[in-house]
Amino acid sequence: MGAKIQGAGRKRFIAGNWKMNLDRSSALALASTLRERCGNRTDLDVAVFPPFVYVSEVAHALAGSSIRVGGQNCCDQASGAFTGEVSAGMLADVGATMVILGHSERRHVYGETDELVHRKVRAALTAGLDVILCVGETLAERQAAATEKVISRQLQRGLEDVSAAEFSKITIAYEPVWAIGTGQNATPEQASQAHGYLRGVITSRYDDRVAARVRIQYGGSVKPANVQTLLSAPEVDGCLVGGASIQAESFLPLLIS
Ligand code: PGA
Repeated sequence: MGAKIQGAGRKRFIAGNWKMNLDRSSALALASTLRERCGNRTDLDVAVFPPFVYVSEVAHALAGSSIRVGGQNCCDQASGAFTGEVSAGMLADVGATMVILGHSERRHVYGETDELVHRKVRAALTAGLDVILCVGETLAERQAAATEKVISRQLQRGLEDVSAAEFSKITIAYEPVWAIGTGQNATPEQASQAHGYLRGVITSRYDDRVAARVRIQYGGSVKPANVQTLLSAPEVDGCLVGGASIQAESFLPLLIS
């Protein structure tokens, strides 16, 4: 049996965010194992996000397989005097078809604002990349009962002036900051509640049909031991995985049917 087709026919989507991990040879070894073990899967979508410097070679290693490759970030500008930055067009040029934007480490460690994330979304769409747009509340925000307010703001501002047609290129990742890299995942109920809320915001922003189509991933300490319960939660259409994605032994078991 293939992976569960989520509500409204949404295909499950599991993405591995390698963050600033792996060296060249281990990145290529992981890509080659993934290609061998799940490079023909069509019952679910799989993507990996290597560090910038390895995107080209990993994309080459996975070319012709069903596994997509993306960047973990991109510049909000197309080109020019922006030392140290990488444009969406450059990512596309070396074989990336996606980019993660608004990840909590970008927002909270590097101070990215909703406005900057929005400009990056625009730049990525212009370059023809699909986007995983991350939203999520901190522990203090959850404790202050501000989760909905925060994730709604991040979503609305990130998507400002994004048309319904453009929105079809976007996946949302709900990643509570307190669950990222902490070993403390959200419960399936907490994830479902946030995802359902986000889908409601998308309905008001676009319409029912658009909202029913968008995939909302959960991210934050997903691992083989908890993936089954998280994925069986209503509204959870896949996962954005950090720590467990950098080794085949912990990533492959997440691609469950
Ligand atoms: P984690 O990271 O799986 O290591 O918690 C998730 C993420 O940051 O996308």
